[in-house]
Amino acid sequence: MEKVTIHTLQAMKQRGEPITALTAYDYPTALLMDQAGIDLILIGDSLGMVVHGFETTLPVTMEMMILHCQAVRRGVKRALLVGDMPFMSYQLSLEEAKRNAARFLAEGGVDAVKLEGGEHMAPTIRALVEIGIAVQGHIGLTPQSISALGGFKVQGKTLEAARRLIADARALEEAGVFSIVLESVPARLAALITRLVSVPTIGIGAGAGCDGQVLVTHDLLGLFDRFTPKFAKKYADLAAVMRSAFQSYVADVHARAFPTEEHTFSISDEVWAAIEQEFGGFSA
Ligand code: KIV
Repeated sequence: MEKVTIHTLQAMKQRGEPITALTAYDYPTALLMDQAGIDLILIGDSLGMVVHGFETTLPVTMEMMILHCQAVRRGVKRALLVGDMPFMSYQLSLEEAKRNAARFLAEGGVDAVKLEGGEHMAPTIRALVEIGIAVQGHIGLTPQSISALGGFKVQGKTLEAARRLIADARALEEAGVFSIVLESVPARLAALITRLVSVPTIGIGAGAGCDGQVLVTHDLLGLFDRFTPKFAKKYADLAAVMRSAFQSYVADVHARAFPTEEHTFSISDEVWAAIEQEFGGFSA
């Protein structure tokens, strides 16, 4: 089993072989995902919404991200691991961006970081690449700018907005990203950007013309019930499976149907006789 690197992804783009990516936030999920052959695992700041229950990704902190990265790292042998830099961990200064990106690698154990933003983020990306940190860009719908974007909306639908997205993608490529996430972008525009840049594009809500696809795993598994974006395909209904298991457990405990003999530890008659003698009779 060969470990996926940024060069593996680049070679896949050149061969026209689709790249698979998913988000993971914990050890057991990451382990199963790696066994399933996912190429890139993103510890996304979407964890703020789907794991911690926040309304947006904005309250996510560096400490939360590092802890989740460490858990995922322990489950992964093959996939490339990318840690998502949270809101305000890279926007204030190049120094702050370098310090926080380095923490992702040194403490979180990831292979690369992702950050949101187009042309205006190029100097930050360049500064990180220059100190040897692999960076994935993220343009289109950038959830950390949700208040400026006015909600979770498709991006690049006008000529001017499409031109801006193309300029953003080119600026990120020029700054040295190894890949670009395109989120909520019309399929034809995402396919064009994919042809225009030399690095692999990974789409989420950006159609089949990208070099790879990523989804938020809780959407794919049917585990996030607040809303399901139009672009997310539900491959399982784990919410129903889990709810039913919890209901069965509650019913079993109420009916004293759990635990049974097979879930119970015994004690020898000899020891029990001595206990009874010391503490009095009791039948359980
Ligand atoms: O945080 C996240 O999960 C992401 C993906 C939607 C690409 O950024």
